[in-house]
Amino acid sequence: MTILVTGARGHVGHAVLDALVAAGQDVRAASRDATTLDVPDGVAKVSADLEDPSTLDAALDGVRSVFLYVRPQGIEGFVKAAEAAGVRHVVLLSSGATLEPKSAQSRIAIFHRAVEEALIGAPFAETLLNPGSFATNALGWRTDVAEGVVRTPYPDSRIGAIHERDIGDVAAKILTDGSHAGQALQLSGPSPISFREQAEVLADVLGRPLRVEELTPEQAAARMTALGWPPEVPPEVLRAMERTTREPSVVTDVVREVTGTAPRTFRQWAEDHRADFS
Ligand SMILES: NC(=O)c1ccc[n+]([C@@H]2O[C@H](COP(=O)([O-])OP(=O)(O)OC[C@H]3O[C@@H](n4cnc5c(N)ncnc54)[C@H](OP(=O)(O)O)[C@@H]3O)[C@@H](O)[C@H]2O)c1
Repeated sequence: MTILVTGARGHVGHAVLDALVAAGQDVRAASRDATTLDVPDGVAKVSADLEDPSTLDAALDGVRSVFLYVRPQGIEGFVKAAEAAGVRHVVLLSSGATLEPKSAQSRIAIFHRAVEEALIGAPFAETLLNPGSFATNALGWRTDVAEGVVRTPYPDSRIGAIHERDIGDVAAKILTDGSHAGQALQLSGPSPISFREQAEVLADVLGRPLRVEELTPEQAAARMTALGWPPEVPPEVLRAMERTTREPSVVTDVVREVTGTAPRTFRQWAEDHRADFS
């Protein structure tokens, strides 16, 4: 039986795909436009838009389990199509935001929870992956790094930055053995690391100095808005950054518990992504 990986072009989706291929699984990779999707030899590709359930039947044909990105618009159609296809297990890339104490007021949590709840109510098994901040967020520094600077609000905010390959390894293990059904897994990197420390590691790995320049919350919000973020989201993200200057974000041992291997460090991430900053 086949495992479908949605978002196979994405950082996490591609890591899931690579881990499943390395484990010798029968994988189908999905994108909204599969014609431009690069996949390893022998992997089938399919075009599927999670916001347009009419595109899902071919993608789900013969599929036993699915790695899913959160797309609230279209989730009911996905559940129906997956049930009709005989899917037994869905592993969702959700967010640690849904586990936060004030998640009822969080726009990010509400967005992710809509899909979590649809899957919890579905007739197949679900596993929710709830990671905190991604190490790949540092890719947002690329333009500044080219100028020898890392510009960030709250440089002493400490987060458990997680490598996308650790999320990929966790997802691949569960998609393969069907374990952790009905569970929500709070995932993180190995230890809290501040943005300032991330910049130091990046400078070391790239072999050139990087100056840290602190943005005001207003400057940071303007940058996020310019990227097309909905206006309610920057204040929420900035509040979380301010909070983690006082109390680091939650770090767990779940990656090791699921995969048997310690989560990768931010240095490992920077080494893996050196070419992205050149
Ligand atoms: N950044 C963080 O710190 C953080 C923390 C916790 C959770 N998360 C979660 O992780 C997600 C980002 O993961 P990532 O870094 O792997 O993202 P990414 O690299 O930006 O990739 C996003 C993927 O989503 C796919 N996609 C978008 N709309 C789609 C649709 N309508 N139908 C099917 N596929 C669609 C895209 O596929 P195509 O373009 O090929 O169609 C792309 O492969 C966030 O959206 C959030 O849910 C992020």
